[in-house]
Amino acid sequence: MILIIDFGSQYNQLIARRVRENHVFCRIEPPGIPLAQIEALRPEGIILSGGPASIYESGSPTVDRGIFDLGIPVLGICYGMQFMVKALGGRVERAAKREYGFAELFIARPEGLFKGLPARTSCWMSHGDSIRELPRGFVVTATTPNTPYAAAADARRRLIGVQFHPEVAHTPRGGAILKNFLFGVCGCRRSWTMKSFARDAVAAVREQVGDQQVILGLSGGVDSSVAAVLIHRAVGKRLTCIFVDNGLLRKNEGARLKETLNRHLHIPIRCVNAAGRFLKALAGVTDPERKRKIIGRVFMQVFEAEARKIKGADYLAQGTLYPDVIESVSAFGGPTSVIKSHHNVGGLPRRMKLKLVEPLRHLFKDEVRELGAELALPEELLWRQPFPGPGLAIRILGEVTARRLKILRDVDEILVAEIKAAGYYRKLWQSFAVLLPIKSVGVMGDARTYEHIAAIRAVTSKDAMTADWARLPQDFLAAVSNRIINEVSGVNRVVYDISSKPPATIEWE
Ligand code: XMP
Repeated sequence: MILIIDFGSQYNQLIARRVRENHVFCRIEPPGIPLAQIEALRPEGIILSGGPASIYESGSPTVDRGIFDLGIPVLGICYGMQFMVKALGGRVERAAKREYGFAELFIARPEGLFKGLPARTSCWMSHGDSIRELPRGFVVTATTPNTPYAAAADARRRLIGVQFHPEVAHTPRGGAILKNFLFGVCGCRRSWTMKSFARDAVAAVREQVGDQQVILGLSGGVDSSVAAVLIHRAVGKRLTCIFVDNGLLRKNEGARLKETLNRHLHIPIRCVNAAGRFLKALAGVTDPERKRKIIGRVFMQVFEAEARKIKGADYLAQGTLYPDVIESVSAFGGPTSVIKSHHNVGGLPRRMKLKLVEPLRHLFKDEVRELGAELALPEELLWRQPFPGPGLAIRILGEVTARRLKILRDVDEILVAEIKAAGYYRKLWQSFAVLLPIKSVGVMGDARTYEHIAAIRAVTSKDAMTADWARLPQDFLAAVSNRIINEVSGVNRVVYDISSKPPATIEWE
């Protein structure tokens, strides 16, 4: 296991990804982690991440200096290196010139971190402070034209620092450098696979839960489905899955989900049809944030009422993923401005006095998919595009009514079917339809029509933080538009959304 200390770098999740791609498990912890806890984790190596602070700012993050005396290899990256140098008696100063971007890297010692690398390569720099003097025992191992101490190491104590970022794609040999650290310096083994993870996670859930009962809320998405299968393996019948049909799902989605899980995975589900309640609560509401809050509140009420029927439940299972965990423990917190308040059920466990089971809390999204495949979840479920908690309510601009829901469902079904048939479904991050609350004039069979407008949204993205509109072929769009206008009564015009995020968002509300 590799322990990553999070000094607040925007790249620290990337470091974790790079480590795990090598089948080595890693955890990210805040700098405040006590030394005793670090020792208890028994990491094979420690990585100190970069960070936005300057080492001389008051309140700049520090980790217990005792980590350098544990005999465990430490790799400091950027701020992490500066921290290490200063902590061990070297000198760091503000550089006259900030260094940002590509730099040529001259490797002075092709050993340790740089074993097998060419004498000259390039790297990605992003720093304002610079090292002026190394601590005793350290030697320079690489330089750039602007940075005489681009990398340094004390080979005897296995303490290594790099001023550049090996974890980003802009450092072409970064992968080899991290591999050298993991396997050459730390002596890690490639033992972390989804198979081993599944085995350990099942055992851990079994131990945590003992002979008690677990409740899990299924959303229809990958995360909660994978969590359900995993926990079911661990505790069998003592898991009860609840699926709240809020009436805001795609066509036949609830039934399909129930069928898939029941048939393929033999997990019984308690379905609560609460469509009427949600629609009633949403009547007359047009503001997107109010819609979200109402849906969140009604969901909690319905879920809680259902969960209370299950006698003796002590645990609530959630499909929480690692990025959420890191965000909540990060030294610097998550994004500060709320663009959209995402529907969550965070308040439930406390209200209901339940303990949490979160078997996926150390995984990234693509690892969850891999785990799902390992647990034999059907492709159709694993590769479902993300679908927002408030569902179609935020894709019907303005008031949500039963008639509008029906129109949007019909439009959406055609769109998704065509997208899948043309082989675009997995290439797109999301593809969906939006119903506009305005009408426009058309002509159909010599008669004037006055009907709704449907917008098609299809985007590519890596993580939903940024997105670009998909350049779908015009002929494809023409065919989709034709089908929608001909087959769905209530729509006489189709438009294609050509906005990227930012400045637009993926969903329209
Ligand atoms: P935006 O629209 O903010 O969406 O670009 C980014 C991603 O988040 C999804 N999304 C939501 N998911 N509850 C959710 O569970 C919500 O209220 C919500 N709003 C947006 C959106 O589908 C996209 O994947």
